[in-house]
Amino acid sequence: MRSLEQDVAKVLISREELERRIAELGAQISTDYDGHNPLLVCVLKGGYMFLADLTRALTIRHGIDFMAISSYGASTETSGVVRLLKDLDYDITGRHVLIVEDIIDTGRTISYLLENLRVRGPASLRVCTLLNKPSRREVPLHIDYVGFEIPNEFVIGYGLDYAEAYRNMPFIGVLKSEVYSCQPAEENQRPHDRCYLES
Ligand code: PRP
Repeated sequence: MRSLEQDVAKVLISREELERRIAELGAQISTDYDGHNPLLVCVLKGGYMFLADLTRALTIRHGIDFMAISSYGASTETSGVVRLLKDLDYDITGRHVLIVEDIIDTGRTISYLLENLRVRGPASLRVCTLLNKPSRREVPLHIDYVGFEIPNEFVIGYGLDYAEAYRNMPFIGVLKSEVYSCQPAEENQRPHDRCYLES
């Protein structure tokens, strides 16, 4: 059986680099929101690991809540369709809200969320993303906190998946193209095992 590690072409951001940058973000957010008891809104599922580490890097009082949005199917390309799968538990009227995302790619998901939350009357509404892929942007956006700007590569790990796998990897890696293109890497090879997961 092929291990998950074998599907990784390279490590883009190591565990140590993630830890260091998240500590910096946590310190910055703690300073900016001191005395404001912000509500951190995690966008599932990809944001779960980043939220868990980011909240542990905060020194201020804060709350957490979750939303689930669907923008992609099992494919690597965005469908352009954004659906609200799970809404917040809390009323955010008058709250300082910080949306926590794992990645902003085309920007469609975060634009939808900003629009959806703004009309509920939060005291402030900002965005914190671990990864930003500006080269893929389709919607103009201002992002308040960015962990890392990354090139246009198919990244997995630390919450990010391909066909629901790889989320548990402790680093951000680039997936081998043979995994998502479902083309055999060499002649006479059968397609990658994970191609069958999608069907
Ligand atoms: C990813 C990611 C963002 C969105 C970004 O979620 O978590 O929410 O895509 O893409 P965009 O900027 O092009 O809209 P995905 O739909 O893969 O779901 P998941 O978090 O459950 O894996």
